[in-house]
Amino acid sequence: DAPKDLNAALLDWYDVHARKMPWRVSPEARKAGERPDPYRVWMSEVMLQQTTVAAVRDYFHRFTSRWPTVRDLAAAEDAEVMGEWAGLGYYARARNLLKCARTVVADHDGRFPADHAALLKLPGIGPYTAAAIASIAFDLRHTVLDGNVERVMARLHDVHAPLPAVKPDLMALAEILTPTERPGDYAQAVMDLGATICTPKSPACGICPWRAPCRARARGTAPDLPRKTPK
Ligand code: ADE
Repeated sequence: DAPKDLNAALLDWYDVHARKMPWRVSPEARKAGERPDPYRVWMSEVMLQQTTVAAVRDYFHRFTSRWPTVRDLAAAEDAEVMGEWAGLGYYARARNLLKCARTVVADHDGRFPADHAALLKLPGIGPYTAAAIASIAFDLRHTVLDGNVERVMARLHDVHAPLPAVKPDLMALAEILTPTERPGDYAQAVMDLGATICTPKSPACGICPWRAPCRARARGTAPDLPRKTPK
């Protein structure tokens, strides 16, 4: 059926074009069933809130070299962590990072829970981050909706109603497409598609794995979507 064809086309594309990220495992390891470390996935997602992938890389390497596990981070001094965070901004994220690490050690024996509801209860983890960790680290079927995914969904379905009001509809469309197989790869594939092909300006529709089913491409509306209610 249609969602299955869309999923297959996107995952085939991802198998070739996945961006290399320090918290991802190699395609070969992925095929062998290896999952990324939840601690590293969590740290990357917290750092990526309001910060670009390019800016996060060096910070991610420094944090994970200095504190390779959540237990190491939980045992750090507050001032050490705040010092390493300097330059990333939004310092509440760093405070929550430490609080969350200590909660995972105190309440979960140093292991991130493989459960969306349990992840949501942790300091600094909202619905987006919980879905990202559940899907990417544990391969659970949860839907990640960030700005990239909103744009891809608005274009695929040619949705003209403006953000932010249309967000729940875009979430519903994204949920329908989320597969039960490889949901973690799928979540990252949609984000990569939005970041590299389905870009805000001049999307590269000619090389998009979803060019055939994309309704905005057929109607020529892709560069205008998603619409936004003026502030
Ligand atoms: N943006 C936030 N998390 C991401 C991820 N895991 N892959 C690609 N882009 C992202």
